[in-house]
Amino acid sequence: MMSIRSLAGACLSAFAALSAFAAPASAQNYPTRTITMIVPFAAGGPTDVISRIVTAHMAQTLGQSIVIENVVGAGGTTATTRAARAANDGYTLITGHMGTHAASVPLYPKLAYHPEKDFEPVALLAGTPILILARKDFPPKDLKEFVAYVKANAEKVNAAHAGIGSVSHASCELLNSILDVKPVGVPFNGTGPAMNALVAGQVDYMCDQIVNAVPQINAGTIKAYAVATPERNPSLPNVPTTTEAGLPAFQAQAWNAVFAPKGTSPAIIATLNAAAIKALDDENVRKRLLELGSVIPAPANRTPEALATLVKNEIAKWTPVLKPAS
Ligand code: MLT
Repeated sequence: MMSIRSLAGACLSAFAALSAFAAPASAQNYPTRTITMIVPFAAGGPTDVISRIVTAHMAQTLGQSIVIENVVGAGGTTATTRAARAANDGYTLITGHMGTHAASVPLYPKLAYHPEKDFEPVALLAGTPILILARKDFPPKDLKEFVAYVKANAEKVNAAHAGIGSVSHASCELLNSILDVKPVGVPFNGTGPAMNALVAGQVDYMCDQIVNAVPQINAGTIKAYAVATPERNPSLPNVPTTTEAGLPAFQAQAWNAVFAPKGTSPAIIATLNAAAIKALDDENVRKRLLELGSVIPAPANRTPEALATLVKNEIAKWTPVLKPAS
């Protein structure tokens, strides 16, 4: 017959064992209040648009509102630093991308965060092919003429971007290095405002994510010379690939993804990941993302582990491009 003392001891150790596996109460009921999704660029740009499309559906699934907070500056690193330092309770998230969570690493020696050490990957939202765009009255008629013109007028042409380390900056750094030109860079707080300047003819060209370009290309307010992916994009069937247009060396695709501060509980990450996946499987969300040229991640690429691998690979890919061996 077990003594009372030993029975109590057995119950306590059983409870301890169980509680070790049970998620904290906060994670079990998560979310119980509004979530903030930081967007590191100005409203209206590709990261903002993708974030709003996906989080609107996530909020329905989670039963709490998700408020987008546009925090701009320093190519997205101001916001990303803030997100890295936020409480890891699941109520402050960030939509990062190839710029904030890869290209910035080689470009900012004193970057105040590390994409792999200071964040928990949550979910990849969308791949975003890069296009070479120009103001409507830019003289070159096609990519071959663009290359010749930019080389011949390297001192005079300018390229808009969203700050050092942004996608638009990093991808045009690659293009400019292939062409061996150093145009004047014109920074904006996002490619939303940069696109306004391009439409207004105030800047010459830009490398931007397709999500931001499709409406303007379809409206005929800017020129699109090529898309920097192996295949044409279904949303822009008449825009040639860089390979078709004679510049196969320029291949560039960005991506946007949700991250949480390091230490956010696995249960909360799993809840957020499931809501993001549900959004990506929603017919209306898919329609809107695809219309804008996004590449919706295949199921295998939607896990937090797959995003962690992507970040690692992208840092390794962009570091030699942006910080050539001295
Ligand atoms: C934006 O949303 O403005 C872009 O993601 C900025 C960039 O990285 O080019």
